[in-house]
Amino acid sequence: MKICRTISELQNAVDEIKQQGKTIGFVPTMGALHDGHVSLFKRAAEENDIFAASVFVNPVQFNNKEDFEKYPRTEQEDLNILEQNNCALVFIPSAEEVYKEGTPEHWSFGQLEQVMEGKQRPGHFSGVANIVSRLFTWVRPDRAYFGEKDYQQIAIIKDMVRQMNSNVEIVPCPIYREADGLAASSRNKRLSPQARQIAPKIHDILTKSYQQREFLSLSQIKSFVENEFKKYKEFELEYFILADGNTLQPVKVKQAGQSVIGFIAVWLDGVRLIDIQKYF
Ligand code: PAF
Repeated sequence: MKICRTISELQNAVDEIKQQGKTIGFVPTMGALHDGHVSLFKRAAEENDIFAASVFVNPVQFNNKEDFEKYPRTEQEDLNILEQNNCALVFIPSAEEVYKEGTPEHWSFGQLEQVMEGKQRPGHFSGVANIVSRLFTWVRPDRAYFGEKDYQQIAIIKDMVRQMNSNVEIVPCPIYREADGLAASSRNKRLSPQARQIAPKIHDILTKSYQQREFLSLSQIKSFVENEFKKYKEFELEYFILADGNTLQPVKVKQAGQSVIGFIAVWLDGVRLIDIQKYF
C-alpha cells in the first residue's frame, strides 16, 4: 500500500495507475475506520482494478470547534485496516497541504442544503464539497463510494459532480449496521457503555414505524416516532423529517410512486447521531 502525504506524491501515484489503464474505486474518509467503512472498501475493491482511500479530518466541514477537536484520530489503526483490505493507495494529507492551493471556496446547493443537516449545520456541505472536489481532482477516480447513512451528503455530492462537469460515478452503498441495529459511525466510539446499550433504540423505533407505514399517514408516522423518543429521557430528538428521496424536501402527503425517506438526528450522551429509514 502506497502512503501519500503530499498532493504531488499522490498525483504521481495516480499517473502511474492511469498509465497502466487501471480503474480506481475511491473511498474518502475522515479516519476512525469501522466496519461500515470496510463494507465500502470491499465494494470499491470488487468493482475496480484498484481501490484508493483518503484519511483526512476536514476542518472546514465542522461548524462546531469542539466536535472537530473530539473527532477520533486513529491513524495507525486506520492504516492497518486499509492494508488488510488491499488498499493500493492512501492519501493522508495535513490541512495545510489540502488548502495550500487555495482557501476554501463557497459551494451552493440550493434547496438540497436548506433542510436537515444543511439547515442544522450551516456551512457543513460547502465544507464537504471543498474537500471532496479537491480529492476527486487529485485522485481522478472512476467511481466513489459513500454510505447511505449520510443520504443528504450523497445528494449533495451528486450535485457537486454535476456542477464540476465531472464523470466520477457516485455509488451509494447500504448502511452497515452493528448486530443490534445501530448504524456504524465513528461517533459511536464516543458513547459511554450505557449510552451504547440504548443507542440501537434509534433503529428499533424507525423499524417499528416502518412496519406500520401502510396503516399510518405520514403525519402519524412522524408523531409516532416523536412520541417514542419522548419515552427515553436519554435521547434528545433534534429532528425527524419525512422527505422526498430525490429533492429532499419535506413531504406531508405521499404522491403515487414517490420515494419517502425519514431522516433523523438525535443527541445521546453528548453525541449527535444520524440515521435514515426508507418508507416508500
Ligand atoms: O462522510 C465523511 O466521512 C466525510 O464527510 C467525507 C466524505 C470523507 C468528506 O470529508
